[in-house]
Amino acid sequence: MKKISVFTSGGDAPGMNACLRAVVRTALFHKLEITGILHGYDGMIKGEFIPMNAKSVSGIIQRGGTILKTARSAEFMTPAGMKKAKENLEKNGIEGVIAIGGDGTFKGALEFSSICSIPFIGCPGTIDNDLIGTDFTIGYDTAINTVVEAVDKIRDTAESHDRLFFVEVMGRDAGLIALRSGIGSGAEAILISEAKTDMEQLIRHLKDGRKDKASKIVIVSEQEGTGSVMKVAEEVKKALPFYDIRVSVLGHIQRGGNPTCMDRVNSSRMGFSAVEALMDGKKSTMIGIINNKITYTPFENAVKHLDELHPDLVGMMKILAL
Ligand code: F6P
Repeated sequence: MKKISVFTSGGDAPGMNACLRAVVRTALFHKLEITGILHGYDGMIKGEFIPMNAKSVSGIIQRGGTILKTARSAEFMTPAGMKKAKENLEKNGIEGVIAIGGDGTFKGALEFSSICSIPFIGCPGTIDNDLIGTDFTIGYDTAINTVVEAVDKIRDTAESHDRLFFVEVMGRDAGLIALRSGIGSGAEAILISEAKTDMEQLIRHLKDGRKDKASKIVIVSEQEGTGSVMKVAEEVKKALPFYDIRVSVLGHIQRGGNPTCMDRVNSSRMGFSAVEALMDGKKSTMIGIINNKITYTPFENAVKHLDELHPDLVGMMKILAL
């Protein structure tokens, strides 16, 4: 193998740059030529290949976002889009590709492997932590720390006004951002996508719970898209009109910011291992870290969903929130 490519795809995540830096520097160490592809699969289709060297990734380990830009490409999922992408990879002499992205990225790579034999290795880059085959995805640790910092601030004002706050966090159809940031911020309740919201139970909890608490915070995982928290808050207000309720949608601040040290180190390990995996002849495989060890999960298994979300954490949270 002489020449490889790397790209970032899907929603950006803090730590993608650290991963990219590790990929480029490891490739150079092994005397591989490396090109970056801009704008994810869209750039592969349009031929946006740029040469990379040690300097191209200087000063980026601490930066959120992705210097290669990213996109969710609809065109790549069409036969014509895939054909163009294949032609461009071949034209550029690419013999292996490292994709840093989430489940959409790996589903795309898997489908692409039916028409293109160039091997792909994936690094899990998404704040959602919704992939099987790794304890933590790139960006998740930073995102939950961003949420905890925001909720700590909300707690100050909630406490001062004796208010009940509903705080919506990201996660698409996975509730892991909500679960961990809710535990970390001492939330009174957490509503996650995996368990259908039991409004009666929530209302009972807020009605019968401790009266000596000045503030209450309910973390709500976005369910039917951004803003779905409004419906939950309205229903509670109807049932419990004595509460002074406010809603806060944290939105895209969860996707930005300097990656935490944990994200920088995990991302570096994954990027480093991705290059070695390509050189070892692996393909259609996602690099992960489980119990602090590098793991290899076939794309088709990585993109499946967890049926039940950490029942141990959910059970503990209920007791600690009393
Ligand atoms: O997958 C990452 C994520 O931030 C999800 O948590 C969220 O639902 C989605 O992306 C938002 O996507 P966009 O930035 O395209 O609005």
